[in-house]
Amino acid sequence: SAKLRILGIETSCDETAAAVVSRFEDGTGRIEADVVLSQLDEHSAYGGVVPEIAARAHVEALDSLIEEALVRSGTTLDEIDAIAATAGPGLIGGLIVGLMTGKAIAHATGKPLYAVNHLEGHALTARLTDGLSFPYLMLLVSGGHTQLVLVRGVGDYERWGTTIDDALGEAFDKTAKLLGLPYPGGPAVEKAAASGDAKRFNFPRPLVGEARLDFSFSGLKTAVRQAAEGIAPVTDQDISDICASFQRAISRTLDDRIGRGLQRFLAEFPDREGMPALVVAGGVAANQELRRTLQSLCDRHGFRFVAPPHHLCTDNAVMIAWAGLERMGTGLPSDTLDVQPRSRWP
Ligand code: KG4
Ligand code: ZN
Repeated sequence: SAKLRILGIETSCDETAAAVVSRFEDGTGRIEADVVLSQLDEHSAYGGVVPEIAARAHVEALDSLIEEALVRSGTTLDEIDAIAATAGPGLIGGLIVGLMTGKAIAHATGKPLYAVNHLEGHALTARLTDGLSFPYLMLLVSGGHTQLVLVRGVGDYERWGTTIDDALGEAFDKTAKLLGLPYPGGPAVEKAAASGDAKRFNFPRPLVGEARLDFSFSGLKTAVRQAAEGIAPVTDQDISDICASFQRAISRTLDDRIGRGLQRFLAEFPDREGMPALVVAGGVAANQELRRTLQSLCDRHGFRFVAPPHHLCTDNAVMIAWAGLERMGTGLPSDTLDVQPRSRWP
């Protein structure tokens, strides 16, 4: 069947990415090429993403990554129907690089440009990978975001909960840092937790029991620091016990917060056909304990738990291309060439 093909560009944080994705008339899609260059090595010495380094690295890598995506997909720019580039939220230097490149290609080829919200990319990925139909719930847990979002349709989202302080990935990263574990902290904390006693420390579970669906993780980080400071010298076993207890507190917190979200969804859509779904996205979705927690939560509430493949949960350009395709397929207008990047864009 006839299809649309989009070039996607993602540069909002520390991954430079380009992709070519097709969408068919029946609404299904196909990844033609998916290229991601992680800048992890360039930032790890600093224990976090350095915006200036990130922006420069995007400038250096992006053109050849786009070329590579086109070659791998066997597509020329002439055969592309549109360009989709992340316009926000994120680090402004990187956003400028990606969006300006998208504008330049759109201008040179005369093809439409879609300035995509990065969060919309995360939100719609499960429709490409799992063919989900609206509405569904999405939990985004990354280094920069912790949000529970109702996805009602293309361009139709409602944020039900967000963090009032640290993002969940940030809590993992900060916890790792104060325990002397390497960056990025998430994988290191998970690894250490595997041999730890999760019941040794009773860390706080912020906002548990509250009706609103927000999250808070900074108190947890403080409790971890106090626990570590209370032991001298700190052994590897102590670190493992702290990490295991930390993950347990997070599991309990999510179980309560997301559980309320699932109930609210059932109350708002009592007549929805088929099984309701919870989608997880973001780098923290790699965490096995988090997945087990969400899986059992979904089982208990009669939800389908959807976790797209890891490389599509973390930052990538496929999701940006796909969001552009969904906008195009729904008849939403493309953006004019004076569209501006936005570091903040809820
Ligand atoms: O989505 P992502 O790759 O990048 C952005 O934040 O945009 O997410 C990175 C975050 C980091 O905070 C990292 O520590 C966390 O995801 N992370 C994990 C795990 N793997 C990555 N957190 C917990 N457990 C993991 N296995
Ligand atoms: Zn992201």
